Amino acid sequence: MENSRKSLIDFVDKAVAAASLLNRDELMFSYKGILYPVTICSPEAFKALESFEARSDDVILAGYPKSGTNWLRRILNDLIAISQNKTLSKESSGDAEKPEEIPYLEVGDPEKYERMMKLPSPRFMATHLCPENLPTSIFRNKVKILLLVRNPKDVATSFFHFSNGLGIFPSYDTWDDFFTDFMSKKVAWGSYFEYLYEWNKYIDKENIMTITYEELKENCALGVKNIAAFFRIPLTEEELQLVVERSSFQSMKKNLEKTHRTISNILFRKGGVSDWKNLFSEEQNEKMDKVFEEQVAGTKLGKKLKYDVYCKA
Ligand code: A3P
Repeated sequence: MENSRKSLIDFVDKAVAAASLLNRDELMFSYKGILYPVTICSPEAFKALESFEARSDDVILAGYPKSGTNWLRRILNDLIAISQNKTLSKESSGDAEKPEEIPYLEVGDPEKYERMMKLPSPRFMATHLCPENLPTSIFRNKVKILLLVRNPKDVATSFFHFSNGLGIFPSYDTWDDFFTDFMSKKVAWGSYFEYLYEWNKYIDKENIMTITYEELKENCALGVKNIAAFFRIPLTEEELQLVVERSSFQSMKKNLEKTHRTISNILFRKGGVSDWKNLFSEEQNEKMDKVFEEQVAGTKLGKKLKYDVYCKA
């Protein structure tokens, strides 16, 4: 893997090409009981990640796949740029921005963590990992973490379409097959319910802020304002509006479309709430309602998700 300024899109393109040479059952590997795509993650990188030394001024975004992490990456990168007095254009710049490293912490080659040691602060990183699989230095050094969560029915729906759109994941003939795997931990990054249960143990810590996809959809400006306050980034009204505008679904989709139409359609699919209603059968609704009730509903994070509002027909 190249080691500097790589576009995430180029990286994904290469992974898709590598995945096309593999059989369906070769696309994932298991590490500590959780599945990951073999073309972008490796046991060697996971091992190296354990001793990664986080800095107290790192900025971390945690979110399960398909909970809106690309959206929040845009917002956080813009906020960091503002904090460094950089000028932002009105339009979101899509793939034109090439981060020094693949922004997802667990994605990439094992040497990436060595290279990251040399990066200036503040370093930005996103992750789909459960807290117990993150390097302990993140918690020891009280790194600020923005935890993004989304209602599980839309996460599953989005993940289904993503799996069928992006070749690094096993594809599915039917939604029913995907639903079965989603409910039984057989998708990349494991069970979303376990993910929520594990992160719930951390959400009262002062260095963690939780935000839901749905509250951002409802009032993005307020969400951005709260995120900026959490990271102690002063924002003028004008800067706030700019961040909101640049991170809008239409703006992000349009900009990536200019260079990568196919991937833009995969990453920026519908960007809404309740698309699950087009896929879930009555039986599947009941099944997920039951699992959510048993594993997550009683937790603080579970309540924050407003399951009754967003996941009941
Ligand atoms: P859908 O598949 O429901 O449309 P992630 O970035 O973690 O992979 O999550 C992808 C989901 O976030 C997709 O959901 C995608 O459309 C949505 N999304 C991406 N950018 C967004 C934005 N700017 N505003 C709202 N939703 C966005």
